[in-house]
Amino acid sequence: MPLLFKNPRIITSTDDYGADVYCVGEQITRIERSIDPKSCAPGTEVIDASGKYLFPGFIDPHVHVYLPFMGTYAKDTWETASRAALVGGTTTLIEMICPGKGDEPMAAFETWLSKASGVSSCDFSFHMGVTRFDPAVERQFREIVKRGVTSFKVFLAYKGALGVDDRELFHTLRLAKELGVVVTAHCENETLVSELQSQLLAAGKTGPEWHEPSRPPRVEAEGVHHLMTFAELTGAEVYVVHTSCDEAVGEATRAISRGVNAHIEVVLPHLILDKSFAERPGFEGAKYVMSPPLRDKQQTERMWNHLRSRAVSTVGTDHAPFDFETQKVMGKPPAGDFTKIPNGIPSVENRVDLLFTHGVCTGRIDLHTFVDAASTQAARVFGLHGKGTIAVGADADLVVYDPGYRGAIRAKSHQMATDYSAFEGWETKGRASVVTVRGRVMARDGEFVGKPGTGRLVPRGR
Ligand code: URP
Ligand code: ZN
Ligand code: ZN
Repeated sequence: MPLLFKNPRIITSTDDYGADVYCVGEQITRIERSIDPKSCAPGTEVIDASGKYLFPGFIDPHVHVYLPFMGTYAKDTWETASRAALVGGTTTLIEMICPGKGDEPMAAFETWLSKASGVSSCDFSFHMGVTRFDPAVERQFREIVKRGVTSFKVFLAYKGALGVDDRELFHTLRLAKELGVVVTAHCENETLVSELQSQLLAAGKTGPEWHEPSRPPRVEAEGVHHLMTFAELTGAEVYVVHTSCDEAVGEATRAISRGVNAHIEVVLPHLILDKSFAERPGFEGAKYVMSPPLRDKQQTERMWNHLRSRAVSTVGTDHAPFDFETQKVMGKPPAGDFTKIPNGIPSVENRVDLLFTHGVCTGRIDLHTFVDAASTQAARVFGLHGKGTIAVGADADLVVYDPGYRGAIRAKSHQMATDYSAFEGWETKGRASVVTVRGRVMARDGEFVGKPGTGRLVPRGR
C-alpha cells in the first residue's frame, strides 16, 4: 500500500527540513513541501508525522544472531532479533558469519543465510568471517563476494578459536584489496589476553570484575596498531569494530592521518556502560562481560567526543545475546572463571533510543551526527545502496520518531530472546512510532506489526 508521511521534520546526515514524503512500492517517489493526499494513489495510507522526526531506517553494522561461541549458542533467532531491531527503529542488520576454524566458508555462508532468509523481518547482510586462510578457502571467499557479501571479518583475538595468525591476516587483506572489499577486524592482542588471563586466574582473581584487567586498553591499542601496519602494507580498506578506548582510537586515527584507508566503529555499550557494571556483586557483573571490555567512565566520555568529532564514523551494538541464568553462569563460582563467561551484551533493540537519549538529548551529539553514525555511514562504508538516507529513489526504509515519548526498558517486555536486559529500568526519551522497510509498515509504537519473514539479503556494492 502506498504511504504518505505528512508534516514530519526530515533529518538526514546533512539536512533538516519540513516536507511530505510519498512512497510507492519499495521506494520513496516524491518529497515535496506539501503533498495533497488527493494526488496520491487510491488506498494510500496517510501517516500523520506532525511534531515528529522522519529519519532514514537505522542500520546496525555489527550484530551476532546465530553465533556458536564459547561452548554455547547465542540466544536469538532471526525471528526475535529482527523484531527487536524493528521495534527499536533498526531496519537493516549486518551479521558476522563466524565459521569454526575447520569449517568450509561456503557451507558457513549457506548456513548463516538459511537462518535469516524467509525468517528475518528486517533487511540484512553479512560480514564473511575469515577464520583460516589457504588456497581452497580463498576460492570460496571469491564466490561469496560475488554473491554480494562485500566485507570480511577477522578476529585478532580469541586465541585458538576464531583468531587468525599474521600470515592469514596478510593474505586476507591482500585478497580484500584485490576484490575491493573492506575487512572488519576485532583488534586485541590475543597472546597478551591469554597470558594476562592465566596470571589473574593463578592469583585467584576469577570473578567477572577481572575481565577488564585481562584486556586493558593497551592490549586493544596493540591490536589496532597491528591491523593498521598490515593495512598500510597491503593497501586494504579496514574497519575497526567496537573500539572501546582512547588508546585504540588514537592508533587508528594516526594511521588514517598517514593515509591508511580505515574506519572506526564504537558500539552502544562502550558509550553508556562503564566497568563498574561488570564489578557488580553476586555475579551480576557477568551480564556486562563483553570484549573489548567495558572501560572506566572517562573512557566513555572520550568515546562520545570521538563520535562528536566524527573520528568514529559508526555506532553499532555488537549485539551478542546470551542468557544470564543458563549461559553467563558458565563462569560462576564455585568453579568461578571469568574466561568462561560467554562474551556479549544484548542491545539491538535499544541502540537507537539509548543513543538518542544519552547522545542527542544530552547535547553530546547533534541530530545529524546521530543519523550519520547510526545509519548513513554504515550504508556508505558497506555499500548498502538505497539505504541510509531519505531521497527520491531511495528505499522506503523510514522511521517516524516521537521525541516526546518517555519510557523505560524492561526485559519482561523486550523482543530479544534473552532473560535479562543490561539496561533494566533505564529511562528512555524518544521512540519509533512508525517503522517501514521498503514501503511496508513493520512496527508501530513499540509493537511489531509487519508480515514476518519479509526481510531480504541486501545486494551490496563494493
Ligand atoms: O563480547 C563480544 N564482543 N562478543 C561477541 C563476539 C565479538 O567479539 O564480537
Ligand atoms: Zn568482537
Ligand atoms: Zn561482535
